[in-house]
Amino acid sequence: MTYLIVHLIHIFSVFIYGGFLFTDNLFLNKMKKDLSEAEHSKVREYFMKYVRQVVPKSLIIAVLSGIYLISVNFGEISENGLSNFQIVLSIKAFLGLWLGLRGVLQVFFGIQPLVFKSHKFPFILVVVIIFLSQLMFSV
Ligand code: HEM
Repeated sequence: MTYLIVHLIHIFSVFIYGGFLFTDNLFLNKMKKDLSEAEHSKVREYFMKYVRQVVPKSLIIAVLSGIYLISVNFGEISENGLSNFQIVLSIKAFLGLWLGLRGVLQVFFGIQPLVFKSHKFPFILVVVIIFLSQLMFSV
């Protein structure tokens, strides 16, 4: 039961974090074409005001719930080494932790670990992570 609840928390927090990145990259960025620079930065600032209240926390919850899930899910390492599932899961977890660390450093400590001004890089990482999350069960 605990696993099920944490799994659901993971999915919903990932939904909120990933949903923001999808919205920002696929829709909000496009408004640049229709608005002046001043208008666009104003609209974006209003949007980000509410994003900042929720999205960074969702990312932290995604990472914490992910750590719990992997602690249950990873399993024993056999004599033959890591299974394909364990390899893909490790890559996915590494990328998720990187994203989490990057987000926390940026939002809570104002540190830009890598100079990425737009949200394109986290967006691409989230797409890759979601892909790996599904792939790992069938390799
Ligand atoms: C923002 C980063 C993350 C994203 C976007 C993400 C996304 C996902 C998605 C979409 C699933 C599949 C859920 C399903 O099909 O039921 C999943 C499952 C999983 N995630 Fe994450 N995740 C992230 C971070 C992490 C981290 C940091 C870890 C571990 C340290 C982790 C560990 C896991 C595990 C073990 C599962 C398998 C759960 C299961 O099916 O029982 N995730 N994740």
